[in-house]
Amino acid sequence: PVLVIDFGAQYAQLIARRVREAQIYSEVMPHTASVAELLAKDPAAIILSGGPSSVYADGAPSVDPALFEAGVPVFGICYGFQAMAGALGGSVEQTGTREFGRTELAVTGAGGSLHEELPGRHPVWMSHGDSVTKAPDGFTVTATSEGAPVAAFEDVARRFAGVQYHPEVAHSPHGQEVLRRFLHEIAGIRPQWTTSSIVGEQVERIRAQVGDGSAICGLSGGVDSAVAAALVQRAIGDRLTCVFVDHGLLRAGERAQVERDFVAATGVKLVTVDARERFMSALAGVTDPEQKRKIIGREFIRVFEQAAQDVQDAAGEHGETFGFLVQGTLYPDVVESGGGAGAANIKSHHNVGGLPEDLEFELVEPLRALFKDEVRRVGLELGLPETIVHRQPFPGPGLGIRIIGEVTAERLEILRAADSIAREELTAAGLDRDIWQCPVVLLADVRSVGVQGDGRTYGHPVVLRPVSSEDAMTADWTRLPYDALERISTRITNEVAEVNRVVLDVTSKPPGTIEWE
Ligand code: XMP
Repeated sequence: PVLVIDFGAQYAQLIARRVREAQIYSEVMPHTASVAELLAKDPAAIILSGGPSSVYADGAPSVDPALFEAGVPVFGICYGFQAMAGALGGSVEQTGTREFGRTELAVTGAGGSLHEELPGRHPVWMSHGDSVTKAPDGFTVTATSEGAPVAAFEDVARRFAGVQYHPEVAHSPHGQEVLRRFLHEIAGIRPQWTTSSIVGEQVERIRAQVGDGSAICGLSGGVDSAVAAALVQRAIGDRLTCVFVDHGLLRAGERAQVERDFVAATGVKLVTVDARERFMSALAGVTDPEQKRKIIGREFIRVFEQAAQDVQDAAGEHGETFGFLVQGTLYPDVVESGGGAGAANIKSHHNVGGLPEDLEFELVEPLRALFKDEVRRVGLELGLPETIVHRQPFPGPGLGIRIIGEVTAERLEILRAADSIAREELTAAGLDRDIWQCPVVLLADVRSVGVQGDGRTYGHPVVLRPVSSEDAMTADWTRLPYDALERISTRITNEVAEVNRVVLDVTSKPPGTIEWE
């Protein structure tokens, strides 16, 4: 792999993704990893990422000069560029000239290997206080900027290079090309990380792990569990059983999407558990959001556990050894949980369904090395329909947390009808890719007066909550076109009898969360 050393800024994962866009496998490693640990991974190249520190700050992470003795190509970015210059005998100084944001880069001479054929002047994204003022011996300076006398350098013979700017961000329009040139031209790595190679490699791994055993996978209707299941199905066929729990809190058409479209695309063996009544009675009379979440989570695990037990018993009858549980854990979760590669920011993650306690399963996590965009590409490669691969996020507790007040079968019907109109119209207007998701929320305990035809109505409002986001941690409300809003509003108030008012949520996150509960 190409190892991206994380110096603590937000950029390491982004760099790792960019490396993969250049069709080379990459992993993120913490800056605390020793040179021996890094070399044990047999890296094709090492990239030193940007970081928040000044190289002069007390306790600033440094680079062990031994790294440069190993014959491995190294690329430094921003902080990593300065640390590299320092470790190899160049000079880094606090010149007092800071650059932050869009900056013009001036390519020196022919631009060397990194900037060859790029425009002589082009914009890049900078974020630095200190500057490299003298490149180490053996290096050629290939670009400068107003605040950075040495903005890029390279030593092609030793396969070392670096840039002061951030090539990984979209604000550096030629950045991907520069990164690609380092990887392909300077480091000489052959691009082999393609979607079909990912599928082939994962199928081999799953076969090796599961042997002649059997596995179970809980499908949520979401992208990750669908792609994980499709990969495992490709690897072990009918020895995989998928379980889909219908808790009655699904949107219109979602059960059919799993039972019909997913099965048609993969040929997977599917067991649907109809637990609608069980969830309805567990939720009766409950209005507190946290209480709802707890009940839904608890019931889900119980139903899944029972289904898993049944599947296990059935496998036993056929003489199969059973014991694998498939989960759609993604690489960012692995990095952020400090597992495997490790990173500064530690967060615990749980997946829908949880782990049944007294059933002993070994986890199969075929997406553990993949970023979300790679998961989608793998899904398409495996023949999954666009409707599944590009599905917007939908919370595990489903419509249960979009009814403000008690959840009842009638209220679910109302919300499902309004939600499917909103989704239809957003799709028809071509807006699906512009929004992260658009919850529709039923204010079930609120009523307002309206007039329809000749009569007075006393109905419920629904709220549209369209949001734009990169990762759901922060979000902004989406400025939907008025004509799309108008069609949604007119259709909902005409077609859903109990709803006589449609309102728009114009709150960002923070302070508002995306969901209302
Ligand atoms: P909030 O409401 O916290 O939502 O801004 C952030 C993102 O997470 C989704 N969400 C959930 N997903 N189980 C899930 O699997 C949950 O309990 C849950 N609650 C919120 C939400 O739809 C949004 O994408």
